[in-house]
Amino acid sequence: MNKIIYLDAAASYQKSNAVIDARVDFLRNKYANSGRGICARAVDVDNMLENTRRVVADFIGANAQQIVFTAGTTDAMNMIARMLAGRVVAVSDLDHHSARLPFEQLAREIKVCPLNQNLDIDLNDVPVADVMVITAMSNVLGRAQDVKKIIAAAREKNPNVITVVDAAQYVVHNDIDVSAWGCDFLCWSGHKIGADTGVGVLYIKNPDDFAPVKFGGGMVNKIIGNDLILNNAPDKFEAGTLPLTQISALGVAIE
Ligand SMILES: Cc1ncc(COP(=O)(O)O)c(C=O)c1O
Repeated sequence: MNKIIYLDAAASYQKSNAVIDARVDFLRNKYANSGRGICARAVDVDNMLENTRRVVADFIGANAQQIVFTAGTTDAMNMIARMLAGRVVAVSDLDHHSARLPFEQLAREIKVCPLNQNLDIDLNDVPVADVMVITAMSNVLGRAQDVKKIIAAAREKNPNVITVVDAAQYVVHNDIDVSAWGCDFLCWSGHKIGADTGVGVLYIKNPDDFAPVKFGGGMVNKIIGNDLILNNAPDKFEAGTLPLTQISALGVAIE
């Protein structure tokens, strides 16, 4: 194989043999759907899913019930924007289109946080908003933001502000502890930490306080007449078949 030097990990990270092998092993030897079968293979897939959810939760200081598998950061941001539609949302010029455009579509009003001379979010000039979007590391500048301080500054302006962290770039460079940050939502994409495309993580601090925005199989506990009784979180947010092959290698990428 030709040796290449690949410097585009911010766009997407190359895959290790361990990740490639985990995918192949799942497809060749372990494949079944999750949450729908009682045969041994299906139960093994359910166990793989829940083990991976725990690995992801430990990785960012969350508990497993707060971890929702998505298709990536863009998918997660669209979900969050729909959950929080109709509010005043603060964004910044650090935000990727994935973080900004869904809110621009669905917010009542958009406010733009000024940046200081270092091109960091200006802690002295955070706007009053219902929701604040914080890009923990911009894909353009690569500078880590002090998320904890930004959240504190936003809460000084509005103690009930809902904070949304885009960790797509930050996650591969720095440890994340969502409980230390105190953010309400956080998301990232698997492909930027060496897992596959098509899988991502959405952390929701209080999943019982929010309703799902996608509907389909796997989220329903019972339907009685016109009443839809949903499964508990995280299942209620995970309508449809999950990207199981990608998830099978996500824990490996994290490890
Ligand atoms: C900071 C940031 N946010 C969001 C995204 C979107 O991620 P994805 O395309 O995996 O959904 C990217 C991707 O480049 C990014 O760098």
